[in-house]
This record gives sequence, structure tokens and C-alpha cells, in this order.
Amino acid sequence: MKAVILAGGEGTRLFPVTKLLNKHLLPIYDKPIIQYAVEKMISFGIKDVLIVSNPLYITHFKRLFVDEKRCSVSFVIQKEPKGIAQGLLLAKKFVGKDNVLFWLGDGIVEDDISRHIHNFTTGAKVFIKRVKDPERFGVATVNKKHHVLEIIEKPTEPKSNYAVTGIYLYDNTVFTKMKNQPPSARGEYEITYINNKYIEENTLKAVFLKKQWFDIGTFESLYKASTFLRKKFLKSQQVGKK
Ligand code: DAU
Repeated sequence: MKAVILAGGEGTRLFPVTKLLNKHLLPIYDKPIIQYAVEKMISFGIKDVLIVSNPLYITHFKRLFVDEKRCSVSFVIQKEPKGIAQGLLLAKKFVGKDNVLFWLGDGIVEDDISRHIHNFTTGAKVFIKRVKDPERFGVATVNKKHHVLEIIEKPTEPKSNYAVTGIYLYDNTVFTKMKNQPPSARGEYEITYINNKYIEENTLKAVFLKKQWFDIGTFESLYKASTFLRKKFLKSQQVGKK
């Protein structure tokens, strides 16, 4: 299993801060956001991680992981933010014949999902979370057997409260599914298009996350995630002292 972390985009909702620095390099309490993602990959036992980001900040990412010995971290440039699926397509050579764990780098997840990663063989999986404001996300409709029936990107009238969190497991057919993908109305190569291809085959399954999930897109979520992880960190220090 290879892991690809997407860490480009413009981060417009965090302007003016993200005019100076890529969003994934901003700190959540004591670490840059991207480091939480890489440490998750290490905890899953993944040995090969690729970070996809914009040309301006690749050197910053390289500097951050220069001494990382627990896994190999490599980098690829996405010249323009043309969509999440385009970011994944840039990883085709890196993934080779393997399956891929695809991770939107601005997400922070508390659940232990390692068994899903280790048991994954074919088809695809999305990790979903019950939220109060589904209209801000890709929204999934799921049947009793956890098959995903539909994903609609930022619907005005959501059919469920389940947000797609930005963690995806894909088998190697993901790259053939991207062939001839058209850009969406907003000019992006949408990941929802790929997920819908798996839905057509009835091979997209959902995993329900139960613990805390943060999508760091706004100052409010940046603040909430920092506060949460600070508390967790201090608690672990106290336990260590006992
Ligand atoms: O956060 C979960 C949501 O992420 C999902 O529910 C949606 O289905 C999915 O489309 C996505 O929506 P967002 O509006 O949050 O996407 P955003 O543009 O914020 O990008 C998500 C991550 O991908 C972020 O880390 C930046 C990165 N990105 C995005 C684009 C469009 C890139 O690296 N390159 C890109 O071209």
C-alpha cells in the first residue's frame, strides 16, 4: 500500500495567512498540519508516502521531512490547483501497481483506521462522519450493508448527515477510471467523479468514523483542532508523570 497526501490548493478561506504559507504548514498546537498526516501513515506501517503540493512550498515540505527515517517521503508538484482527482493522477507513477491510501492533507482524524487499511484488497472505501453541517462537504448516502449509493458534492439539500472526510482507499483501477475525466462546471477534476465510477460498479464502501474529525479549512476549525490536541497532549503528559 502506498500513501498519497494532497497538500496543495490555495487555502483561500485562510487568507491572508495562507498568502504567506501553505495551509498544511500551519501549526496545530505543536506541529504543522501535514505532520499529523505523515505520522498517521507511519502508525499504519506505510513505508512510502508521497506529498503533492504547489511549486512555491515544496522546499518547505522537503525541509520538514529531511530527517524522517521511519518512512520514505517523496514529493511531486501540482502546478495549479486543478482538483483533487488531478492531484491523485500526479501520483500514478509513484503508486505503480499498488493500492493507494489517498489522504486530503488538511484532515485530522482520531479513529484508529489501521485495520481497514491492512485488510483492504479491491474496490474502494471512503471514511465518513456524521456532521451537523453536511452542505459544506461531499455527502454520502449509504445502505445497510455500508455500500455507498450516492455522493453529492456540497449539496444545497443534503440527503444525509454523512460527510466524506477526505480519506479514501482505492485499488489500482482508480487510474483507469480517470481516463477521459472531464473537468467539472467549476473547472476542476473532482474526486466525486471517481467515487461515482466505483458506485456504478457497486464497489464503493463506507467506513463510519466515530471519534473526532477536523477539516482544517477555516480559522475556527484551526482553533478548535489546536485546542483539542493541546488538551490531549497535556493529558498524555500527566499520565506519563503518574
Ligand atoms: O474535507 C473533506 C472534503 O474535502 C470532502 O467532503 C469533499 O468531498 C472534497 O471535495 C473536499 O472538499 P473541500 O472543499 O474541503 O476541498 P478543498 O478545496 O478544501 O481541498 C481539500 C484538500 O485538497 C486540501 O488539503 C487542499 C488540497 N487540494 C485541493 C485542490 C482542489 C490540492 O492539493 N489541490 C487541489 O487542486
